[in-house]
Amino acid sequence: MGYTTYENIVTEISEGVFTITMSRPKALNALNRATLEELDKAVAEAEANGNAKVLIITGAGEKAFVAGADIAEMSGFTPLEGREFGMLGQRVFSHIENSDKPVIAAVNGYALGGGSELALSCDIRIASENARFGQPEVNLGIIPGFGGTQRLPRLVGNGMANYIILTGEMVSASDALRIGLVEEVVPADRLIERAREIAKVIMKKAPVAVRIAKRAINLSQDVDLASGMSYEAEAFTTTFATSDRIEGMKAFLEKRSASFGGK
Ligand code: CAA
Repeated sequence: MGYTTYENIVTEISEGVFTITMSRPKALNALNRATLEELDKAVAEAEANGNAKVLIITGAGEKAFVAGADIAEMSGFTPLEGREFGMLGQRVFSHIENSDKPVIAAVNGYALGGGSELALSCDIRIASENARFGQPEVNLGIIPGFGGTQRLPRLVGNGMANYIILTGEMVSASDALRIGLVEEVVPADRLIERAREIAKVIMKKAPVAVRIAKRAINLSQDVDLASGMSYEAEAFTTTFATSDRIEGMKAFLEKRSASFGGK
């Protein structure tokens, strides 16, 4: 399968890991409409590629993951255009969140505004030591519009989300780790390697189980405990109908590693 060519994104696949690199150097990889549309297409490309098991999203260069929504483009928006832009970002990030394939954010520098929100829509966040998170929208007279007011409090709690969004202050990588905004911090030159290591660990697991677990965890953010438990019971039942479940348990009992077919 050949690669689609993008203007502000680079995609590549190797050893089952599909990497999407946000690459708009003149604006620290900021998200304009065209880049958001491309990101949506790149995620769809990864989803359609049977060889792609796990996605990594990162930024080109050493300075920025994504420095936010494109302020120059937004500056000319009417309220209606602002709404459409917000809805576009929300739709693309929900596409990432709801993808059947696990998505790891490898945050390599500034992840501000829409950049932080992009990382929030991924399943696991790994950051380099020089990463800086933040929701500086209040400096511009706007609020986070790509899911930040909803996903950030779910991840770090209302108090910390208020602190970050109302002050607009940047959060260092070590503070991001402390508050649960990222799962791991590594030296910059180890970032992609570490993200790939995690991807490869996930790739060795039963694919249907991984997919169903991701869905159940996402659902836990939206429903009451009893409904979530009910969903989990049905999802758990579904895994018993897979060949991978038979192979996984048989392999354990035979003291060998499992070979999963994804069925
Ligand atoms: N939009 C458009 N252009 C941007 C940008 C953005 N979000 N962030 C950086 N750039 C551009 C700069 O304008 C600059 O362009 P020129 O060279 O043509 O002047 C170039 O990228 C390099 O940036 P700086 O010179 O500012 O680099 P710096 O090292 O001095 O500062 C920074 C880096 C702290 C990240 C700073 O660029 C910055 O504060 N950027 C804006 C961050 C921001 O406010 N993001 C939130 C946007 S709003 C949003 O995202 C809304 C939403 O939720 C949907």
